[in-house]
Formats: sequence, C-alpha cells, structure tokens
Amino acid sequence: MLTGKRILLVIGGGIAAYKVLELIRRLRDRGAAVTPVLTRAGAEFVTPLSVAALAGEKVHDQLFDLTTEAEMGHIQLSRSADLIVVAPATADLMAKAAQGRAEDLASTLLLATDTPVMMVPAMNVRMWQHPATQRNLAVLRGDEVRLVGPDDGAMACGEFGPGRMAEPAAILAAIEAAFTAGPLAGRHVLVTSGPTHEPIDPVRYIANRSSGAQGTALAAALRDLGAKVTFVTGPASVPPPAGVDVVRVETARDMLAAVQAALPADAAVFAAAVADWRVANAAGQKMKKDGSGRAPALEFAENPDILATVSRMGAGRPGLVVGFAAETETVVAHATAKRARKGCDWIVANDVSPETGIMGGAENAVVLISDQGAETWPRLAKDEVARRLAARIAAALGTA
Ligand code: CTP
Repeated sequence: MLTGKRILLVIGGGIAAYKVLELIRRLRDRGAAVTPVLTRAGAEFVTPLSVAALAGEKVHDQLFDLTTEAEMGHIQLSRSADLIVVAPATADLMAKAAQGRAEDLASTLLLATDTPVMMVPAMNVRMWQHPATQRNLAVLRGDEVRLVGPDDGAMACGEFGPGRMAEPAAILAAIEAAFTAGPLAGRHVLVTSGPTHEPIDPVRYIANRSSGAQGTALAAALRDLGAKVTFVTGPASVPPPAGVDVVRVETARDMLAAVQAALPADAAVFAAAVADWRVANAAGQKMKKDGSGRAPALEFAENPDILATVSRMGAGRPGLVVGFAAETETVVAHATAKRARKGCDWIVANDVSPETGIMGGAENAVVLISDQGAETWPRLAKDEVARRLAARIAAALGTA
C-alpha cells in the first residue's frame, strides 16, 4: 500500500500519456496522493480536466503562476512529495533533466528537488537508441534517477523496438518497491574500495589497476537494500555512489585509520586493492636525477593488513567480515588459505589474470568461500555480482 505517500507526477508530451490516467487511478486506489504536473506538450495528449478529475487535485502547469506561487511555490512543490515520477519521460524531458535546465515548471521542479526521482521513458525507438539519449540516460543514472522500462514492442508510430512506456502495473510495482524498507534498514555496512596510492615522492606514487567498480557497485547494492553505508575509497577511476557516506583516502595507512574511525559496523566488506607495500624511504621533495646514471633505490615496508586487523579485532568486530582475493592462479586454493590466514568469514575470490579482463573491466567471475566451502558463481556484470552479494549479506545478517 502507498497510504500517506505523496507522488508528484510529471506528465510529459507523448502518446503514452494516456496510460498515465490509469496509473493515477491505481496510485489512488493504493492510498497515494497524486499531485499532477502537466507539461505543455503533455496537455496535447491528455486534458488537464481528466488529469485533475482522476487525481482529485489541481493540475500544475505554469512555472510563473501567481496564484500557485502564493499558495505553494514551485520549490516547495518540488520538495513536498515523497517521490517524483516522470511519465512519460520524453527524450526532451530526459535531456533537460540531464543538463540541469530550468526553463519550464517540469524541468525546474526536477532541478530544485531533493526528493528521489523516477523516470519512465517513452519515445520512438530511434530516439531512444540515439547516442544523445543514451548519454543523457547515463548522466541520469549517475544522478541516481531510478528508471522503469522502457519496454520492447510495437509502438504507436508503427516502429518496433525499445521505447514503449512500461505498463501502469509495472510502474506501480516500481513505485511500491521504492517505498519498501529494505532488509538492511537500520544496519551499518562498511565497504572499502579502489586502489591505494603509496607515495614515492610528492609527485610520484605506486598504484595498481583497480578501478573501484566492484566496490562501488557493492556499496550501491547495499544502499539499495536500505543499509547505511560508509564507503572508504582510495583514488578510484569510477565515481562513488550517491546516498552513501564517502571517506576518501590515499594510502593503506589512511584507509586503516578511516576504517577504524567508521566502526562499529554490522558488516564490513573489503573490496579495496590495497598496496601490500609502501615506500619506506619516500622522499619529502621531488626526486631528481643526479647525473650519475644511477637509479634511486626504493626500500619497501609492509603495509598494515586492514582486513586481517579488523577480522582479528575481538571486541567490536563486525558480525560479518568479507574479504576479496585477487589471484592469478589456483584461485580457490589460494583464496581458501587466505580466508584462514586473515580470519575473515567470507572471501570473494576472483581471477585477475590479464586475459580474464576482470580488473578494470565490467564483469566479474567470483567464487564465494565460506565455512560452507567454495561456491562458484557464473561470470556476471559487476553490478549483478554486487546485488547477489548484498542479498547474501542481508540474509546472513538477518539470521545472525
Ligand atoms: N587487504 C587489506 N589490507 C591490505 C592488503 C589486503 O585489507 N594491506 C584486503 C583486500 O581488501 C582484500 C583482501 O585483503 O579484501 C585480499 O587482498 P589480496 O591483495 O588478494 O591479498 P594479499 O593480502 O595481498 O595476499 P597475497 O599477497 O597473498 O595475494
């Protein structure tokens, strides 16, 4: 049920707008209040009268409407809802939102809001597939806009393919899911991610090829299940997810300090590719060639093992400690030994040999090692590995 929830529904200009009338009816049947916003193009497809009659509320359609501004300004309108749903989200509305334009009521609301936004795209298949729309889509995803559809199928314009608006039942299910408290609600999960940089001198450092993609996807998946996530990240090449507490660090020692400061946690997942060694004789000034042709001799010191430190901390240890194992050969044997050596509960092992394309790539093939043995997962997108792992963490904490 959606009792007590207020949905700000932005109706864009597309033939699919007629399906939104049905959506309004279903939302109200489920107990939601619907505040409708009709764009000028939307009003070419559905009338303000039918929208207002179904919503049981005034239709907002003007940015500069003196009566409305006096009663409830557009800024307040954008924030008074629990969720903003844009349906149909036309290519134009998506472009405006991706660019942060504020040139009519709908785009201004989307820019001014601090409320979660859900978009339900609907457009001609060529418009959907156009690189410009796909670029905008990527931007919107990065801005944490939730997307529903589009579906594949026959379109009103006679073409066939992706671009059809999702059906009202699917939109309703997505809206209900957005309000469902996840299984990790009230839980704190710590995630480390990315590489570390270990300085050689003020301008040079030792690093590794980790992009931070797997840790980032995992933090997002845990957040989506309702966890409060502290995300301790080294200098990664992918941006951290929204909606998590980000702590940026550089070196392994900084990462350990940040992890210790973030505890206690119900679970901790160590996805970072931490440098095993740091340069013990790092120079305070830029190292210069001295003309002798001799290369500088770097001395190394072992970095603290963050995973092992937390796994063995006794009092205050998170209930579930998960490590990753990057291996290039005999993955299961090495990872099983690593689990015992580090004292963690689970190890997520992967083969990072260059030919797998896993390190820095979009996919991962993992083996989950626990006290139950080794479980081989199929090769999956890193996002999917993250979702499955987050679900397993939720299940483990649920029974803890
Ligand atoms: N890890 C850590 N601190 C370190 C090194 C590693 O927390 N100083 C964590 C990683 O985040 C990962 C796990 O330990 O979860 C295993 O990392 P990996 O690099 O595979 O293992 P190593 O400790 O480097 O072991 P080996 O040298 O035997 O591969």
